[in-house]
Amino acid sequence: EKGGHDYFMLKEIEEQPEALANTLRGHFDGGRIVLDEQRLTDQDLRDVDKVFVVACGTAYHSGLIAKYAIEHWTRLPVEVELASEFRYRDPVLDRDTLVVAISQSGETADTLEAVRHARGQKARVLAICNTNGAQIPRESDAVLYTHAGPEVGVAATKTFTSQVAANYLVGLALAQARGTKYPDEVAREFAELEAMPAAVHKVLSTVEDVRALGRRIADSKAVLFLGRHVGFPVALEGALKLKELAYMHAEGFAAGELKHGPIALIEEGLPVVVVMPSPKGRATLHAKLVSNISEIQARGARTIVIAEEGDDTVRPFADELIEVPAVPTLLQPLVSSVPLQVLAAEIARARGYDVDKPRNLAKSVTVE
Ligand code: F6R
Repeated sequence: EKGGHDYFMLKEIEEQPEALANTLRGHFDGGRIVLDEQRLTDQDLRDVDKVFVVACGTAYHSGLIAKYAIEHWTRLPVEVELASEFRYRDPVLDRDTLVVAISQSGETADTLEAVRHARGQKARVLAICNTNGAQIPRESDAVLYTHAGPEVGVAATKTFTSQVAANYLVGLALAQARGTKYPDEVAREFAELEAMPAAVHKVLSTVEDVRALGRRIADSKAVLFLGRHVGFPVALEGALKLKELAYMHAEGFAAGELKHGPIALIEEGLPVVVVMPSPKGRATLHAKLVSNISEIQARGARTIVIAEEGDDTVRPFADELIEVPAVPTLLQPLVSSVPLQVLAAEIARARGYDVDKPRNLAKSVTVE
């Protein structure tokens, strides 16, 4: 059943190229991005003047990534908020607000309440969901389904990367409706997305090396994760996976915050995972991160660096190096989050835990 794998999660991690391809399939037709159940008109999309993304847990991390792409492509302000906070704050919403609700199960109580609150305030709601006909899509104005297939492991993996891809489709649909991107640019961005299943497939060739690394660091007492720009939500997601599966203290930080506090945590032998931006695509940020890594390495950290293949500047500072293929910056989370999933699962297994059924957690959280 696990397809010869030690645990379902590994099978699902390896299904990501297919899940991504399925999520993208059929959404570019006649030269245009098309969503699934679209009960919003093009005029509704043109009228949008602000976007909120609401979600919980891993889905929230996919939303944090979406912000970079949607703001860049549409010039609309995007706020990303935990559904449980959004609902009980008094967010400023009206009929020109688009609320994107992301939920794998489509049944998460906090996200559902956020959707109801938003609709009560006349905002338009677009759901991104992996479960056909679930409650959240039923109560939304438009739906985009991720087609990741059923996920058995409690920890979200293929549904996470599929959410990231779906979020990009929403960003492109908005850019197309608003005219902030020309049709040929939308087509080009879609083609970049379509190349991602092959890129993720390439990352999967590192699985056994990453598993071996996981076993080597499995008895650490904590692991820190650092990233910048889209690498920051990837760091948060890497830390969440490790907490939920390996029951270890794990924290994700924006690398630029290091000197503002977290560097005090660095001690001899502490594993620190660093998600590097592209040395070509984001040269300035790349240089800043190289300097961060050298600082933490000098203070004794064991640096585990996820970097674009061929990024030689980072080598001297990487105690462990995991290479991922070069892809456009906004799409980098689709490749860089994969080794972090493998790392968390294998550390959990090495510590003797049930990777597919972590303690205290349920696949779908239907109470607030
Ligand atoms: C983490 C995980 C959870 C879910 C969260 C939201 O691996 O699975 O953090 O992402 O409970 O669930 P959905 O997406 O079903 O709303």
